[in-house]
Amino acid sequence: MVLQAIKYSRGQLEILDQLKLPHQEEYDHVYSSTDAWHAIKEMRTRGAPAIAIVAALALAVELVNMKLTPVAEEVKVFIMEKLDYLVTSRPTAVNLADAARKLRKTVEDASVAEGANGESVREAYVAAAEKMLIDDVSDNENIGKHGAEWIVSNTDAGKKGKVSMITHCNTGSLATAGYGTALGVIRSLHAKGALKHAFCTETRPYNQGSRLTAFELVHDQIPATLVTDSMAAALIRLKGESENIAGIVVGADRVAANGDTANKIGTYSLAILAKHHGIKFLVAAPRTTIDLSTKSGADIVIEERPGKEVTLVKGPRHDGATLDLAVVETVSIAANGIGVWNPAFDVTPAELIDGIITEVGVVEKDSNGVFHLEHVFEAEGTQ
Ligand code: MRU
Repeated sequence: MVLQAIKYSRGQLEILDQLKLPHQEEYDHVYSSTDAWHAIKEMRTRGAPAIAIVAALALAVELVNMKLTPVAEEVKVFIMEKLDYLVTSRPTAVNLADAARKLRKTVEDASVAEGANGESVREAYVAAAEKMLIDDVSDNENIGKHGAEWIVSNTDAGKKGKVSMITHCNTGSLATAGYGTALGVIRSLHAKGALKHAFCTETRPYNQGSRLTAFELVHDQIPATLVTDSMAAALIRLKGESENIAGIVVGADRVAANGDTANKIGTYSLAILAKHHGIKFLVAAPRTTIDLSTKSGADIVIEERPGKEVTLVKGPRHDGATLDLAVVETVSIAANGIGVWNPAFDVTPAELIDGIITEVGVVEKDSNGVFHLEHVFEAEGTQ
């Protein structure tokens, strides 16, 4: 069975509620852009590519099911307003803003085409949103392929034999339209018989690692072990040799023009660990995550989330032996009254990154230590 975070057919969209995973697999219907905005804000759906695709498809569903004016300009204005609203849901991941920019252009062009009417503008929007869903899966498969090949041939561990990799947060089928980015690289290593073991970090405070990545690894029967975020240094020091750890591979929410990368909080400390221990640190992301208009990490807005995500944990009751799915409990794990800082992301400087794996290949720094990310857009002029 293939894991699907997004179920779509024209006029219908369902998302797997990621707040209920790994214990309950429940889908929510998304009927409108308002529904999508709330699902994204509450993190029922999350992960940079998935956020963009859910937002784009939710508006497609809304358009397909509404009574439409025949006036092209009115449909265009409606779509533009909804896109402006959708991009306000979460600020850091650039994929949503990038998708909105491309969809605005599609709608602008469709609205001035000869014979344009409400129906033709709607159709142009819906087709473009549907293409994003399809493209994301093939992009991820290519990221997986390029990343796995690079790791096997460019790391000391890869030259020795099967490699182990560490990953952070969730970047798999649940964070994308399917297959995943960093987790796609691990899937691809496994598929080609080159993976010894995957280690996933818990990823506090939202636990995307223990709840979502661990769920995907178990689902795919990939040999894997969960560690808390604070165990990563000891893991590399004590098991780096015996497990043949080649490196750490993570996803991204926004890659700036110079390669600085915003990703889930904790990514930066993992990059420092990789540098200290001489293992590779790799970012896997589709080109939709690369933002050439953001010059460096200093220009990336980091979302801050409510403190209760740190102080409270939620899950089904467990009495030490059995799990009772019928009773979901929230427990406090911090002293009452303590102040909390909860940035959802951090920025890893480009100097700590060995390679950026995209669907068109792996970008490495030049001899001056500079990434030239503009080259990944040259092939098909996608920016
Ligand atoms: O807050 P989240 O769960 O949306 O954060 C997700 C991440 O940071 C992922 O690593 C990133 O979006 C890439 S997903 C392919």
